[in-house]
Amino acid sequence: MDNNAGYAFAGGGCRTYSDVKPILRERCEGCHQAGEIGPMSLGTYQQARPWAKAIRQAVMERTMPPWHADEETSRRIRNSRALAKHEVDAIVKWVDGGALEGAAVEATAGVARPSGWRLGKPDLVIRVPGYKVPAG
Ligand code: HEC
Repeated sequence: MDNNAGYAFAGGGCRTYSDVKPILRERCEGCHQAGEIGPMSLGTYQQARPWAKAIRQAVMERTMPPWHADEETSRRIRNSRALAKHEVDAIVKWVDGGALEGAAVEATAGVARPSGWRLGKPDLVIRVPGYKVPAG
């Protein structure tokens, strides 16, 4: 349902869920999907909408996505999870504009989870012999 046609980019560039969906898919849904470590799924508008205010706060305070390197350092890290400023701005605009749905988007269950090593095969794997912890 196109419930806010004409509104999406009017009046200072409001954003809808369909506009921010690519950001959520790339940056959040890897963890925020069933079976992953995020406490809730963000894969559909219905799932994400109740979290809109919390999402706004988390991206503004940069507590989400979890990433502790500062901005300058992040630019030099290939697997950086940090959001770019325009991504933060788009999410904030979405929430401030009423967290509307916009054009229908295909529901995603998050980015496909790679099996095995998530960051590629490491150069070195060290196997540690088992260690028994005595009970009590
Ligand atoms: C690496 C995994 C990971 C990624 C990526 C990630 N999250 Fe999270 N998120 C978590 C975990 C784990 C928690 C619960 C623990 C916590 O609150 O620190 C959480 C909690 C949250 C909460 C707070 C929920 C509450 O109970 O109040 C919000 C909101 C949130 N995430 C939004 C996002 C958004 C938006 C993105 C993408 C921009 C994102 N997260 C990306 C793992 C992730």
